[in-house]
Amino acid sequence: MIDETVAYIQTRLPFTPEIGIILGSGLGDLASAVENPIFLDYGTIPHFPLSTAPGHKGRFVAGFLAHKPVICMQGRFHYYEGYTMEQVIYPVRVLKRLGVQTLILTNAAGGICQDFSVGDLMLIEDHINVMGTNPLIGRNDPSFGPRFCDMTYAYTPKLRALAEQTAAALNIPLQHGVYLACTGPSFETPAEIRAFRTLGADAVGMSTVPEVIAASHCQMNVLAISMITNMAAGVLDQPLSGDEVIEIGNLRSRDMQRLISEIVRNMEGT
Ligand code: 6GU
Repeated sequence: MIDETVAYIQTRLPFTPEIGIILGSGLGDLASAVENPIFLDYGTIPHFPLSTAPGHKGRFVAGFLAHKPVICMQGRFHYYEGYTMEQVIYPVRVLKRLGVQTLILTNAAGGICQDFSVGDLMLIEDHINVMGTNPLIGRNDPSFGPRFCDMTYAYTPKLRALAEQTAAALNIPLQHGVYLACTGPSFETPAEIRAFRTLGADAVGMSTVPEVIAASHCQMNVLAISMITNMAAGVLDQPLSGDEVIEIGNLRSRDMQRLISEIVRNMEGT
């Protein structure tokens, strides 16, 4: 199945992408900075799932960012949409087979850390998986990686250092912290958020962790950045809405875009 998906995409790409970029809710703008873009709608790709979340387009945008060959996913697959974990991570394995060595992920997240403000960007240093499942459950395919996958350096230390340096050089404030993933689609309760803070979480979201586990498993370098689109439940004395998540994403996506383009420019072979 994956061979057919990869073979089809390869017929449409005149180059081998080195960097994969998965764009979160409201953060799809980066794709418009890609030069000589080739658009591939998920619906036209054999065996590819279709995306349904608001603010997500559902296509690959392949081309060049800072003269490096990239392939962006404008729209990802969330577990809360009803996709299986296998479907959620399928694109990561497709990217691996296409030749992608480094995966950059963005997402919209709720702020748990009291020092964060709405609109902040947060470099993900580590994660906590509270989704109650793991995308590697099931028969292991050793052509991707081992049965038991080390997660010690899942968020590639060299890329984290590069992100911090690049943000400083661009004068873009960059927080850093631990991302905790829940399934959604309901947001958390205030009690859950207090519990997650005690566990060491700084931000909470509904994505990224499955893809990072799959990327680690197949030895990809990983960089992940959250946009804090709202504070998590109970942090401020106000309710949350899904619309605000998309609006703030649009506001700060320019900084996210500049930061990621410049990180890509500054990347060596990693
Ligand atoms: Cl508060 N929670 C979760 N799970 N995901 C989010 C969020 C909150 N805000 C944006 N994405």
